[in-house]
Amino acid sequence: MKKIFFSFLTIALLADLSKAQTTVVIDGSNSTNTISRHIYGHFSEHLGRCIYDGFWVGDSINVAKKDRIRLDVVEALKKIKVPNLRWPGGCFADEYHWRDGIGPRTQRPYMVNTNWGGVSEDNSFGTHEFLELCSLIGCEPYIAGNVGSGTVEEMAKWVEYLNSDAKSTMTDLRKANGRSEPWRVKFWGVGNESWGCGGNMTADFYADQYKRYAVYCRNYKDAPLLKIASGANSSDYNWTESLMKNVGPGRMWGVTLHYYTIPSGSWGKKGSATSFDEKEYFNTMKNCLVMEELVTRHSTIMDKYDPAKKTALVVDEWGIWTDVEPGTNPGFLYQQNSLRDALIAGTTLNIFNNHSDRVRMANLAQTVNVLQSIVLTKGDKMLLTPTYYIFDMYKVHMDAKKLNINFKSPDYTIDDKTIPALNISASQDSSGATHISLVNLNPNKKITLQTVLPGINWKTVTGQIVTSAKLTDINTFEDPYKIKNRIIQWR
Ligand code: AHR
Repeated sequence: MKKIFFSFLTIALLADLSKAQTTVVIDGSNSTNTISRHIYGHFSEHLGRCIYDGFWVGDSINVAKKDRIRLDVVEALKKIKVPNLRWPGGCFADEYHWRDGIGPRTQRPYMVNTNWGGVSEDNSFGTHEFLELCSLIGCEPYIAGNVGSGTVEEMAKWVEYLNSDAKSTMTDLRKANGRSEPWRVKFWGVGNESWGCGGNMTADFYADQYKRYAVYCRNYKDAPLLKIASGANSSDYNWTESLMKNVGPGRMWGVTLHYYTIPSGSWGKKGSATSFDEKEYFNTMKNCLVMEELVTRHSTIMDKYDPAKKTALVVDEWGIWTDVEPGTNPGFLYQQNSLRDALIAGTTLNIFNNHSDRVRMANLAQTVNVLQSIVLTKGDKMLLTPTYYIFDMYKVHMDAKKLNINFKSPDYTIDDKTIPALNISASQDSSGATHISLVNLNPNKKITLQTVLPGINWKTVTGQIVTSAKLTDINTFEDPYKIKNRIIQWR
């Protein structure tokens, strides 16, 4: 039996099918491409309490663990079918020397994490530990190599250590460290933010560096690499142009794009994660919707050099970036997560689904205890944020066929500014079930919808909703399930 599933993300309940105002046409006969599951990826950096205290804990934390990996966090990530996890950074990646993080833990050198709080990093979580984490979650590792302060040789040897099964000094070392089989890591980032913390390079200089590094990141037996170039900061279209022109689609599986939603729009005082009025909320959502323009314009440049769309646009850092929670280390980027964050996640994932012909990978920053987290931890306790429940609701779109949508959104206006109140994406999975995800950004108005579904045969309809009384509502360790996805009783 064919089914339709609606997922709603809204503060004002949506959809009264009897009094139609907005007509949405979703075409089931004309599906164009698949939505890659890798759009639903996550990012975990050696930053604040993401790795240490988030994934990797000591004896004093009384939770189930494998080695020192928290299994409550692993279970939560398995449930939403996390497809890939990016590591070790971020800015940290371009100061990370992988050999410091292998071998007996007590003999690993300490380093200062100069990017994030100046704290000591004991390197107890390194290559083997990260790959064990990925295997427990059941996701693909996505490793960012060090271009900024590393060498070609260092990166080449890391790939050999990870992926070769031929006899060599590197593979002997891996075996001596307890891993006989190569891991066959696929997703490989050649640097991070090379225009900034990854080396302050110009676009043309980086394009040459990319080519040089990429040559020596070899494809070992049964382990072809999917190489990802460090791409543009937000609207730096020249960066994408330079990479596409000077490197070309044949040499890059992907090109990255980084864009963060900052409530105030300024890197100084960004705005609180939990205390904001409707005007600030509106501006935040306006800033979030910039992703639509960024993805469209970067894709247009890529189309010029790569009309066959061989190279993916990889949005491997996105999400809301607010001021840190009062009283926490400013270098740790710990922020709470409200209904507003859920609306940002739903809207951004709709944008990615709708551009999935080019956007084939993305990574929310960052999984645990940093920026727009899906999990927060406090000692033995763990909570799932409103953003987590969006990923839970949207997981149905992974590897499903994207459906084309036609509608005119009602406006959401404050003062003289307007944004579309409604955004939508839809897909059909391999069982034939259709999934429609709708986000209503207007906290003051219900939207009444009529759906027209040519080419879609359906018999039953079900729905889920994420909502709450206030945009500032959050899940806390005292009240962890205030916001979650709930089943809608369909009339
Ligand atoms: O996600 C936090 C930081 O933001 C990353 O380390 C860096 O790549 C970006 O500037």
